[in-house]
Amino acid sequence: MNNEIIISCNWKMNPSTLEEAIELTQNIIQYSKHIPKNTKVLLIVPFPFIYCVSTLIKNTNILLGGQDCHSEFLGPYTSGVSVSMLKSLGCSHVLAGHSERRQLWKDTNEIINKKVRKILDNELYCILCIGENKTEYEKGQNKEICAKQLSECLYQCSENDLKHIIIAYEPVWAIGTGLNATTEIIEDVHNYIRNWFKEHYSETSSNNICIQYGGSVNPINVSSILNIENVNGVLVGSASLDSEKISKIMNYSI
Ligand code: PGA
Repeated sequence: MNNEIIISCNWKMNPSTLEEAIELTQNIIQYSKHIPKNTKVLLIVPFPFIYCVSTLIKNTNILLGGQDCHSEFLGPYTSGVSVSMLKSLGCSHVLAGHSERRQLWKDTNEIINKKVRKILDNELYCILCIGENKTEYEKGQNKEICAKQLSECLYQCSENDLKHIIIAYEPVWAIGTGLNATTEIIEDVHNYIRNWFKEHYSETSSNNICIQYGGSVNPINVSSILNIENVNGVLVGSASLDSEKISKIMNYSI
């Protein structure tokens, strides 16, 4: 069983200038010096800031990730960003299937699967986001939706590929809303996800897969979330933009 905790900071389309991005990165570097031993910090920053952040974190243990990638390798795709570009800038991780991409850019499970394949083909780690929306949650379909997203987004992924996959369970109704999924819900769905890997792959893969939780994680709830069985990290949105809050999150205690 992997005991590593990953604190992933998803800046989304923030902050508004490079100067602010530099200041935030410098603060995070400072605060990351005394974080718990088994913990890694991953900065998932907007494309225009990647190169600069990559330079700033060079001699630290902080990891760098992209928020999305194109499903093709290269070519005439104006505004597209390929995995190889991200890799060449120092990214080790790429998000796929974030609910904002699914909602606003209409990324389907099929498109997400192509992106997952590109990320794996380039030997980067893929953080695959899954989770139900409010209506689905109210109908009690959370596990069903997660299962569908897992099987369609991981289509044709081998057991070996799973070594480069991280799952982020992010109930859409908890993202950016201040509404937290309860400990019971998080535990229930994370157990379900781990079992899903046992059923579809193997006990070893199931034991080793890293499952993060995301959705209104803050300095107050982070420790209790990380204490839940089968939670191996958190994906933090808005709180990761506030130096004081992210410092407290990175220095959680469980
Ligand atoms: P939030 O975002 O922490 O602001 O809810 C989480 C996410 O979208 O990854």
